[in-house]
Formats: sequence, C-alpha cells, structure tokens
Amino acid sequence: MSEDSRVKIVEVGPRDGLQNEKKEISTAHKIELVKKLADAGLKHIEAGAFVSPKWVPQMAGSADVFAGLKDLNAELSALVPNEKGMEAAIEAGVKEVAIFASASESFSQKNINCSIKESFDRFAPVMQMARQHDIKVRGYVSCVNGCPYEGEISPEAVAKVSRALMQMGAYEISLGDTIGVGTPVQTFEMLEAVLGDVPVEKVAVHMHDTYGQAMANILASLDLGVRIIDASVAGLGGCPYAKGASGNVATEDVVYMLKGMGFETGVDLDALVAVSHWVRDGLKLSIQGKVASALK
Ligand code: HMG
Ligand code: MG
Repeated sequence: MSEDSRVKIVEVGPRDGLQNEKKEISTAHKIELVKKLADAGLKHIEAGAFVSPKWVPQMAGSADVFAGLKDLNAELSALVPNEKGMEAAIEAGVKEVAIFASASESFSQKNINCSIKESFDRFAPVMQMARQHDIKVRGYVSCVNGCPYEGEISPEAVAKVSRALMQMGAYEISLGDTIGVGTPVQTFEMLEAVLGDVPVEKVAVHMHDTYGQAMANILASLDLGVRIIDASVAGLGGCPYAKGASGNVATEDVVYMLKGMGFETGVDLDALVAVSHWVRDGLKLSIQGKVASALK
C-alpha cells in the first residue's frame, strides 16, 4: 500500500459532534463512544475540549473523559483556546491539543471572544507549554469557505491564518468549512492558496454537510493530494448558525467512499456503522449520514 493511498481520518464526533448537543450526555457514555470508535479502527479521536463551561457546557467534564480513557489504543486530542485550557489539559494528561483560529474576524469574536490577532497572542503561551510538556499541537482554521456573519472569506485570508499556525509550530492544519457553504471549485481555490504555504501532508479538511457539499468538497481535496480528513460518527454536530441543518460530514460516509476508491483508512466500516447505530439507539441522537441509514 503506497503512502498516497492511505488516508488518516480524524474522528471529531466526541468533541465537535457532542459540543452542539443540548441534551446532557453522561461522562460514561462519552467514554463508551470513544472506546467504540477506537475499536472500529479510528486511531485519531478528538475526545473533549478544555474551554469555558459557560460557553460550551457539554464539554465541561472533559478531564473525566480523559481519565476514563488512559489505556486506550488511540491518539486522543482536546481543544484548547488559551493558557487556562492548556493547564487543565496538561493536568488531565492530554498528549495532543488543538488550538483554533478563524479566517473570519467576526467569527473569531463570536466563538472565542477576541480578534484573530488576540487569539494568536493567547496561543503563544499554549505553544510554549506544549513544547515544555512534549505535547503535539494541531491548528484549526474556521470559516474557510464562508462565514455566517461576513459571508465570503478570501482564500488569501485562509492561507494567512494557516501559515501563521504552522509557523507557530502546529504539526497539522485543519481547514474547517464550519457552516458547510463551500462548493468544490471554491474548495479547490481555497486549498490552492493554502498549499502555496503549507505542505500538503500537513493539511486536513474538515467539511460540514449543511448544504450537502461535504463529500464533493472532500473529493476535490483528495484530487489536490490531501490525505487527512476530519469526520464525525453519525454526522454528529448540528450547525448553530443554520437551524435544522446537518453538521459534520459522517465518518461512515467518508470511509465508504474512500473504500470504494481504493484508499486504506484502517477503519472497519461494519464496526463503524454499528457505532453509528449505537449513537442512535444508545445515546438517542439522530443519524445524519447516509451510509449508516442505508446499512440498517
Ligand atoms: P472569555 O469570556 O473572553 O474569557 O472567553 P476570559 O478569559 O475573560 O474568562 C472568562 C471566564 O471564563 C473566567 O471565569 C475564566 O476563568 C473562564 P469566571 O471568572 O467568569 O468564573 N475561562 C475558562 N474556563 C475553563 N476553561 C478555559 C477558560 N478560559 C477562561 N479554557 C474563551 C474566552 C476562549 C474562554 C471562551 O470564548 C471559550 O471557551 N470559547 C470556546 C468556544 C468553543 O469551544 N467553540 C467551539 C469550538 S470551535 C469549532 O467548533 C470550530 C471547529 O470545530 C472547526 C469547524 O468546525 O469548522 C474547530
Ligand atoms: Mg466541525
């Protein structure tokens, strides 16, 4: 199997998916979900966030989630917005964190209550602590294909923030179409701009399916050589800016397509579909993806 036919899937359901759920999900259920995902072959899982519980109540118990997953055979990561979050992540024994910036000024203000520039000032001590504690740092860029407040976002704005995250020391840059508005040509142009600065092997795409474009955008990204894809089991994760809309692209749908195209992901599709069904029957959340519904 050549390097080029291998795709790394970053499972974000337990964080990006659950963070949007109004219904309380117990710590035990969160732990069970991550374990099931790892058993299905997902080896990179975002399991929580050390953010303000006032902003995102669902992530409040992330330290307990990590405590329950100490011996898991998977690389777990957590979102961290600032020094305080990083202190909590270190305390919880987290080995990988993700900092999150935005390509849109307005979204930055709404999401983390500061400008893009201020967000980088907050990331600086996080990076320093990461180096001291040998913690890997992933960097997110939100709103790469559009912003709910500003509308269009230029590819150059996305490239600028991506470059800054890489220069800061992020080992991987995840490009998020946070509200799922992008179409394939737009994704292609956005990626072309980013790839002028960031090597393709460091680039991940994080597509939302709000307008049914996620798979097409992923295909456009694969065409450009991207081999890291974020996805969320059962398509967990609504979009707070588009009521009733589906959220992150479903991991089952991505794995199904990649399998059909001859890519290797290490994920057992049947086992993953069973996890999706457990999300529906055990967590009582709805399945947004197509494949898990088709494979009843
Ligand atoms: P702030 O209110 O400006 O922060 O929020 P502050 O520094 O003024 O502190 C206010 C209070 O929060 C204080 O507590 C702090 O101690 C506390 P108080 O004195 O009022 O009791 N605080 C914290 N508590 C826990 N953990 C922390 C922390 N920091 C401060 N880390 C802040 C700024 C960044 C904290 C806030 O805006 C926040 O937590 N935002 C997180 C929002 C979030 O998680 N959004 C979702 C993730 S991003 C996303 O989904 C996009 C992505 O998935 C990509 C895509 O989908 O496209 C990545
Ligand atoms: Mg997302």
